[in-house]
Amino acid sequence: MSPPRDVTVLVGSLRKGSWSRKLALALGTLAPPGLALAILPIGDLPFYDQDLEDQDPPPSWSAFRGRIARADALLFVTPEYNRSVPGVLKNALDVGSRPYGRGVWAGKPGAVVSVSPGAIGGFGANQHLRQTLASVGVPVLPQPEVYVGGVDKLFDAEGGIANDGTRGFLEGFMATFGAWIEKNQAG
Ligand code: FNR
Repeated sequence: MSPPRDVTVLVGSLRKGSWSRKLALALGTLAPPGLALAILPIGDLPFYDQDLEDQDPPPSWSAFRGRIARADALLFVTPEYNRSVPGVLKNALDVGSRPYGRGVWAGKPGAVVSVSPGAIGGFGANQHLRQTLASVGVPVLPQPEVYVGGVDKLFDAEGGIANDGTRGFLEGFMATFGAWIEKNQAG
């Protein structure tokens, strides 16, 4: 049996109680057996500065780039900050996109999940993230689009998805993502 696909998960929030991280963990339990999800921390990446690239790149940049290069697929789970992508996640995308011509994102199948306690479910962040992912060459699962509103009421006491309909939708999303990963796999 082939080993599970390494789905590297980037969470667009650093706070301990993050709903986005909680949802990322729940998605790991809803994923089909062929996918292994692991969150890759992005909070220790220095802000992208091209001068650092030209000298000795920070070790955390190199480690991050190496980890993304080994990933089979990418899952982004993010809140919306001021109708866009939180800076910490945009920084991670920028770090992985350089040095010029040697970015690590291109060709990795990806999917986007946005969350908000509000009703709009992070639509602005989701769309802006898709725009950036297009520019770095990530083939993003077109559908289902996943905008999770009311995320603060989504979980049961064990961190599972409390609502049957939403759990079923997210399970279906992960199954479709699994098929997308196989379809877009390079090797
Ligand atoms: C927010 N929040 C927010 N929510 C939203 O739906 N649209 C928005 O544009 C914003 N903007 C925004 C900016 C900043 C700087 C902060 C700190 C927050 C609220 C946000 O959705 C809420 O705090 C989430 O709980 C953040 O996600 P995590 O940290 O729980 O994953």
